Amino acid sequence: MSGLFITLEGPEGAGKSTNREYLAERLREQGIDVLLTREPGGTPLAERIRELLLTPSDEPMAADTELLLVFAARAQHLAQVIHPALARGSVVLCDRFTDATYAYQGGGRGLSEARIAVLEEFVQAQLRPDLTLVFDLPVEVGLARAIARGRLDRFEQEAQTFFESVRQTYLRRASNEPARYRILDAAQTLTGVQASIDQLLPDILERCRG
Ligand SMILES: Nc1ncnc2c1ncn2[C@@H]1O[C@H](COP(=O)(O)OP(=O)(O)OP(=O)(O)O)[C@@H](O)[C@H]1O
Ligand SMILES: [Mg+2]
Repeated sequence: MSGLFITLEGPEGAGKSTNREYLAERLREQGIDVLLTREPGGTPLAERIRELLLTPSDEPMAADTELLLVFAARAQHLAQVIHPALARGSVVLCDRFTDATYAYQGGGRGLSEARIAVLEEFVQAQLRPDLTLVFDLPVEVGLARAIARGRLDRFEQEAQTFFESVRQTYLRRASNEPARYRILDAAQTLTGVQASIDQLLPDILERCRG
């Protein structure tokens, strides 16, 4: 048995966490074993690295430090959680993964794709998500939702141009590899987004069973 690796991507406030629960419920009611997890984080040690990444600090974090911390957390998450779950045949629903690294550390911080690709190979070898849902929405809408939710983390304090690059990087990656990505209009009402997820379900269920 080999499981299915689905990632949810998109900027702050796009609805990844909210809709991850919705998708998990739809799959579970079909009797599918689902594991919900997130990045950075997903294990106690990786969650400690997440804290380092998200907590605002007086000492500026070098872009390479940020990149290496993201992949350090990912290596731990893969070893402890993702690889074992896929080996058991579970469907893994992961809130952010390496596309987020290309979007934030690449598009946002300006690190080269080539540098990120080296670490992707190093940490993941052949592993790539089977399917990636990109929750796309205008930057202002996502930030307004994040602000409404409360205090802003180290990334949420970035300028609008940072998030424009994040968004464009996701969209470019999706259009370069349409077989792996599905773009969802995340600016709709939650009911509308859920209806879009319902439309993807037959394909997802087929992949689960295939
Ligand atoms: N389609 C929607 N319309 C309006 N509000 C929404 C919609 N989807 C999610 N929300 C609300 O926006 C906020 C952010 O949603 P959520 O936490 O799911 O986003 P996220 O993509 O996980 O964000 P983050 O990257 O910051 O974790 C929540 O308060 C949620 O209830
Ligand atoms: Mg979230």
